[in-house]
Amino acid sequence: MDHIRIRGGNPLNGVIRIGGAKNAALPLMTACLLTDEALTLSNLPHLADITTLANLLIQHGVDINMEGENGGHEGRTLSLSAHNITSTVAPYDLVRKMRATALVLGPLVARFGQARVSLPGGCAIGARPIDLHIKGLQELGAKIELEGGYVNARCNGRLTGAEIVFPFTSVGATENLMMAATLADGETRLINAAREPEVIDLANCLVAMGAQIDGIGSDTLVIQGVERLGGTSHRVIADRIEAGTYAMAVAVTGGEVQLVGANLEHLGAVSETLRAAGLILEETDTGISARRENDRLTGVDVMTDPYPGFPTDMQAQFMALMATVNGASMVTETIFENRFMHVPELTRMGANINLHGGSAMIRGVPKLTGAPVMATDLRASVSLVLAGLAADGDTIVNRVYHLDRGYERLEEKLAACGAEVERIKGD
Ligand code: EPZ
Repeated sequence: MDHIRIRGGNPLNGVIRIGGAKNAALPLMTACLLTDEALTLSNLPHLADITTLANLLIQHGVDINMEGENGGHEGRTLSLSAHNITSTVAPYDLVRKMRATALVLGPLVARFGQARVSLPGGCAIGARPIDLHIKGLQELGAKIELEGGYVNARCNGRLTGAEIVFPFTSVGATENLMMAATLADGETRLINAAREPEVIDLANCLVAMGAQIDGIGSDTLVIQGVERLGGTSHRVIADRIEAGTYAMAVAVTGGEVQLVGANLEHLGAVSETLRAAGLILEETDTGISARRENDRLTGVDVMTDPYPGFPTDMQAQFMALMATVNGASMVTETIFENRFMHVPELTRMGANINLHGGSAMIRGVPKLTGAPVMATDLRASVSLVLAGLAADGDTIVNRVYHLDRGYERLEEKLAACGAEVERIKGD
């Protein structure tokens, strides 16, 4: 397994191109199942999760062609055609690798009246059930049985529009059910729907395919079902989590970096929080500039929340930053039940962090010290990289396959801005 070695202490100065959003690209790819025409997606990031989902779609019978040269550093363009679906089964060995594969459930049932999709199982950060996805499909008229770790869904004819009230915000359930509702007979109302930019990007693409969706960007989506959808070409939005992560890297090391392609509005509460800590964030004509002028930032309290609140996907990174600032901060995780696995690793680097249930009290220390650390999940991994950028000495982050799921060419992008970071090939 590869690992990454970081020698801390260098400020970051330069330009980082922000890639297409992983969490927009994944649902957008499953939307191809809703039509027999070609769906062309551009600005796709080169990430392991994208490849995993592409493999699942191919085993359903989707034709996937990469257009143009291999995208290089400008993202890939994929054309996906589900004109000849040969299987509506999503097997465990693929679903267990990446939970977002469960997003094929809604489209398959809506277009083909059936699907057999493995339950994704938990992951490092929590149990992550899909009960809201299943309950919503039942409310749309699907008959569902859970058997042998699989969801068996069936529907005679079309799904039927319904009002679905989510007890709490779920990005995936909103996406799965919004896709299913586009082909249902009648009107569907999704109440307490997720409003993340990735959900909006999916809704906009579905409308371009012929779906009728009102309330995009709000917590109430009204979908009038149509008989069929067509193809379209769609450019995936920039990855706000990648952008926020690199902005926090500048906050940790000092310096100034241009985040090309990033959208300041999509950072939501992260921009106010980072500004309150002392980072200078400005919109530019190519994206966002992140600059740290004074030598240390100050502690700011954060509670994770659905968009436009502080995203859970940036909690671990923010904690690494708070470990290095002047003063104390309280970080509370409200979305996932086990998303503090970066804490023991940060502590090994000298961070002063005390856990109290779903909250962490962090007291900034003058310096972290480099150490060999273990990555446990995607965002915990990158928080260890951020800590390594600030630490005295060398940090070795093991199991970087976690990183490769969500960060494209991370070590190249950081090294190009002056960081001493390299990937060391493992056995
Ligand atoms: C999406 O996951 C993202 N993944 C996650 O990003 C992100 O952390 C999460 O949304 C929250 O923003 C993708 O978009 C591919 P949820 P998702 O449904 O859809 C519970 C990353 O690092 N829940 O909004 O799975 C769930 O357990 C990943 O890029 C149910 O109980 O998240 C969680 O506690 C990690 N039942 C909470 O709701 C359900 O049926 C929010 O989950 C569905 C969810």
